Amino acid sequence: MSSGIESVLTETRVFGPFERVAATAHISGMDAYRALYDEADRDPEGFWARQARENLIWDKPFTTVLDESNKPFYRWFPDGELNVSANCLDRHLGTPVADKTAIIFEADDGEVTRITYRELHARVCQLANAIKSLGYQTGDRAIIYLPMSIEAVVAMQACARLGITHSVVFGGFSSKSLHERCVDVGATLVITADEQRRGGRAIPLKRAVDEALSQPGGEAVRHVIVYRRTGGAVDWNEGRDLWLHDVLEGQSNECAPVPVNAEHPLFILYTSGSTGKPKGVQHSSAGYLLMCLLTMKWTFDIKNDDIFWCTADVGWVTGHSYIVYGPLAAGATQIMFEGVPTYPTPARFWEMIQRHQCTIFYTAPTAIRSLIKAAESNEEHHPRKFDLTSLRIIGSVGEPINPEAWMWYFTNVGRERCPVLDTWWQTETGVHMITPLPGATPLKPGSCTLPLPGIDAAVVDESGREVEPGRGGFLVVKRPWPAMIRTIWGDPERFKKSYFPPEHNGYYLAGDGAQRDTDGYFWIMGRIDDVLNVSGHRLGTMEVESAMVAHPLVAEAAVVGRPDATTGEAVVAFVVLKRPLPQGDEANEIARELRDWVGREIGPIAKPREIRFGENLPKTRSGKIMRRLLRLVAQDQPITQDVSTLENPAILTQLSQSY
Ligand code: PRX
Repeated sequence: MSSGIESVLTETRVFGPFERVAATAHISGMDAYRALYDEADRDPEGFWARQARENLIWDKPFTTVLDESNKPFYRWFPDGELNVSANCLDRHLGTPVADKTAIIFEADDGEVTRITYRELHARVCQLANAIKSLGYQTGDRAIIYLPMSIEAVVAMQACARLGITHSVVFGGFSSKSLHERCVDVGATLVITADEQRRGGRAIPLKRAVDEALSQPGGEAVRHVIVYRRTGGAVDWNEGRDLWLHDVLEGQSNECAPVPVNAEHPLFILYTSGSTGKPKGVQHSSAGYLLMCLLTMKWTFDIKNDDIFWCTADVGWVTGHSYIVYGPLAAGATQIMFEGVPTYPTPARFWEMIQRHQCTIFYTAPTAIRSLIKAAESNEEHHPRKFDLTSLRIIGSVGEPINPEAWMWYFTNVGRERCPVLDTWWQTETGVHMITPLPGATPLKPGSCTLPLPGIDAAVVDESGREVEPGRGGFLVVKRPWPAMIRTIWGDPERFKKSYFPPEHNGYYLAGDGAQRDTDGYFWIMGRIDDVLNVSGHRLGTMEVESAMVAHPLVAEAAVVGRPDATTGEAVVAFVVLKRPLPQGDEANEIARELRDWVGREIGPIAKPREIRFGENLPKTRSGKIMRRLLRLVAQDQPITQDVSTLENPAILTQLSQSY
């Protein structure tokens, strides 16, 4: 982390403003930004009430803006009612947007399917009717385990239409992770596909569902609706399993949206925390959707003729907010991509931007960094070989973007004409929090710049006091905002403890370290807890450790992150086996076995990059694993601290050998 901090703090270049974007932007110029920020700051409730009235369609208007009676369980617009799907689809039906393309779907093999808002509305209604006819209703929970597809959008929107709370599980998670989420969320319905297609390969999904539901608690799921994506063979559980095309047959393409309370849980999305068990982040309906729509306007400056493309998977919060809810509420045309950036070649993104005339492109630093490598080693894959002049705004999300990658993105993809939006936010925040505005904010490579209007972000010390510019501290948000996490599903105590610890004055604690410069710009320094960020995916070190110690050979395991030029961080696992220390081929063999094991327990993204075996782990006298030391060992850095208190200093040499 420290080398990253130095490199960002020596960054002094400033870019922008970008007149071409500013000329027509929703928020044009810093004065406009400051005016909006000040309005929100002076009267937060008045500000959010105005936004909620102007941007959402209410079935029952709210009279209370914010209920703070049970802090930190804030409730926004608590006596209002609306339907999220109606706010994404029905609102466009009587307007010219109805016949506009909502989604340009490009499959892994390049096949393109387009769907208009009117058609999407009809599809959502049909599925909602089908789900209703199976006996599901408002308040039920559905697990969605689908590939990137129009069907995934339809499934999420159909749930929203009926007030069924969805929990999307990323297709890369194992059957075990799927099972845990099914049980924790109390799902009675699962929507999945036979297989998903990525990078020319078919990967089974239905099989993982079958495995998950055969475990204790799985019998609570009454139906599994299966989208036939590849036609691959699947096992069939009569009475429980239903083909999507069968349940849709004969369903009407009209289905009245069910008005729900503003606070009704739209979705629960699992993310890693600092303990072994992933947390079910619960989001609201109205406050969440309001800010999805507002950030489409503020951050992405969305316009009627834009072609928007967020490359995230719908299994992550980015896909929820900036594929399924934000762009549709805004009536935008968006690209949705089934595949991976490197198939059939690492020029796929650039080809697609050119082919579909993409104007706003939003991706992750890890993708940028891997495409830099590919482009620099083969001219054919370089973005300069493609016509990217349609682009006007490019964005980044999920992890810090180092100034070098920022500059490459700005120069080669944005051709120095497009602002780079480094958007800082989290599963818990629901939407962007700290980000440049394309028509206003001067950019500094490596900084996510300034908070959005209504977002009172700060950097504080251990006792909750704001620190001076240039000093590092904890990133907090001092006031509640409409799209914030409402609770951790089934665990309100953990919600309070994780995000609102008493020493932080009731501020929302993000879990990131940060500092501000003298212009007030924020520089994110990475997680301050036991959460790693690998290729933009959040992973709890304890989560990986518990998976490892579940293996019969493993006595003890400690997992740390090591900075990595492509993936941001890489997982390094230190392992004590229940057998003598392995060497050479045998160690390689066991390391492979353990990696596959973690892949099966959590998912391939959690597989340790390196495994290091030792006879024990470095511990303090009180028996705590010295993770700081392990982080140095993982980076092959010299150990300068006193290690004389270690039981067996020789293990540091053992642990330097990686497999
Ligand atoms: O550490 C921060 C990092 O990603 C974490 C949130 O991860 P997740 O909930 O999976 O959401 C990712 C998509 C919003 C944060 O705590 N992070 C996210 N965006 C940035 C970032 N770190 C630095 N700069 C960013 N722009």
